[in-house]
Amino acid sequence: MIVTIDGPSGTGKSTVAKGVAKRLNFAFFDTGAMYRAFAWLVLREGVDSSDQTKVEALLPAFQFEIRDPKGCERRYFVQGRDVSREIRSQMISHISSQIAVYPAVRQVMVGIQRKFGADTDAVFEGRDMGTVVFTHAEVKIFLTATAAVRAARRYRELQHKFPDLSMNQADILKDIEERDKTDSMRKESPLRQAEDAILIDTSSLSVEEVIEKIIQLMPQQSFPKMRTIYRLVYLLARLYFRCFFRLRIYGLNHFRPGAAVIAANHCSFLDPPVLSISCPEEVHFLAKKSLFDVPFLGFLIRILNSHPVKRGAADSQLVHGILDLLAQDKKVILFPEGARSKNGELGPFERGLSFLVQKARCRVQPAYIHGTFDAWPRTQKMPKFKGRIAVVFGAPIEWEEETDQPGQIVLRTEAAIRALKAWFLAGARGSPP
Ligand code: DC
Repeated sequence: MIVTIDGPSGTGKSTVAKGVAKRLNFAFFDTGAMYRAFAWLVLREGVDSSDQTKVEALLPAFQFEIRDPKGCERRYFVQGRDVSREIRSQMISHISSQIAVYPAVRQVMVGIQRKFGADTDAVFEGRDMGTVVFTHAEVKIFLTATAAVRAARRYRELQHKFPDLSMNQADILKDIEERDKTDSMRKESPLRQAEDAILIDTSSLSVEEVIEKIIQLMPQQSFPKMRTIYRLVYLLARLYFRCFFRLRIYGLNHFRPGAAVIAANHCSFLDPPVLSISCPEEVHFLAKKSLFDVPFLGFLIRILNSHPVKRGAADSQLVHGILDLLAQDKKVILFPEGARSKNGELGPFERGLSFLVQKARCRVQPAYIHGTFDAWPRTQKMPKFKGRIAVVFGAPIEWEEETDQPGQIVLRTEAAIRALKAWFLAGARGSPP
């Protein structure tokens, strides 16, 4: 999914786009940085930025790289050199606005941007993202703010980055008005709001408020409809766990439609039903045959798509059953530890998960379950009827043909579940990793 955020500089675009990407766990691309990076090369080569032919002649030599587009330490490289800081100078601001009017420059930048955006969930921030580069983006935002507010923001930002800044706020306002004019009057992809973009005036809004507004505009994912009986039991069980165990569910924004193995820590018989009713669609899981004889639990799991596993059952039969479900775009819960933990702590993971994911070529949806060990530990015959349970979903781990070495998925899943646990124990603030 692509989210575009366009608008003039000083509207808080970069900070907002970064925040939105973080909340959604999307990659983030600041396309102004790409024009700035090319402007840096123009300056370094001593080319006059008003000489269109000479500037365009530099394009084939432009080697641009972004390291860590999903993380917070994003760095920009031109010809292998880290230019992240240098491209923020006023000189580069000026040159980038000048060279951005040249059609060949825009063509190359648009190519780079579309390549970055292929097959990925990303937030793209710039001037023409919604009007030219990603005309089919699912969500388009156009940010504005008065020139005076923008100048004040840019002044604060520059003062922070360059304490020895020689410009004052009035110089910056003049600069902003000049750049607005160049950006919106140019013939090639002028700065304008796409017809289907949503306008947000950020003059009197905080960054957090703008981010929240955009998150609210995100389309709700549509999941396959539940069967009536499943939905009924699902809702009743949710009510029960909410009332008696104060069930809280986090990270549903990480949940995607389609086949996936939902991998979680395992320390109680309650884990399969609790995890199932925390998912926004029907899921499947394997359960010991003996569990089907436990009063209430047996009834519950029967309706919640559990598949009985006999002790000593042939592994190949099980594997085929799971692969069949995944091939039908269903989700299957697996507990990679293999058995319930004896002390509630996360134990070592078995490697079977990797094999299944490689075969099914599906993603892993990591989840951390908290509180079920206290509610029903291994040492007790019956569960307690009160307590606190939470389920935390993390960012999906996509299966990638070239990079997934056998065993790699298991390590990544284990690390993801540990990170979810740490996030929850640290106070569950923001969106889970
Ligand atoms: O967003 P910024 O100030 O970092 O962008 C620097 C310049 O790059 C800006 O003056 C216009 C140009 N630009 C553009 O023309 N198209 C984009 N998508 C992004 C930036």
